Amino acid sequence: MKIIIINGPNLNLLGKREPEIYGAHSFDDYFKVLQNKFSAIDISYFQSNIEGEIIDKLHEVGFTYDGVILNAAAYTHTSVGIGDAVKATETPVVEVHISNVHAREEFRHQSFIAANAKGVIVGFGLKSYDLAIESFL
Ligand code: DQA
Repeated sequence: MKIIIINGPNLNLLGKREPEIYGAHSFDDYFKVLQNKFSAIDISYFQSNIEGEIIDKLHEVGFTYDGVILNAAAYTHTSVGIGDAVKATETPVVEVHISNVHAREEFRHQSFIAANAKGVIVGFGLKSYDLAIESFL
């Protein structure tokens, strides 16, 4: 089984960025934890701060991989283009958020991805990614 985690803007700063919201671990460190925990699965990881690169990656993997775990971060709430890419591709996408976006500012309640996602997991910290992987098993 081939799964990719795609993280959007500012998630490269996990561990340093607003740790009271996003926690103290870098994603690179957490990715190793995920790879060990789910060693039977081929999990890869891509992060970009650039909307078009996220769209390109969805096109690249979206017809061959078994699953995409997408935390589009701020683009979740703004990007028709990423939403359209999720709709245009065949691989099931699980939308993930570390924080509970529904308990935060109103602009974070909107998602351009959710309507075309297989499911949405929000608010469990980095464990949201574990739950997303488990949803494909
Ligand atoms: C986030 C929530 C978004 O609203 C925010 O812009 C992020 C991270 C999360 O994982 O909680 O950058 O996607």
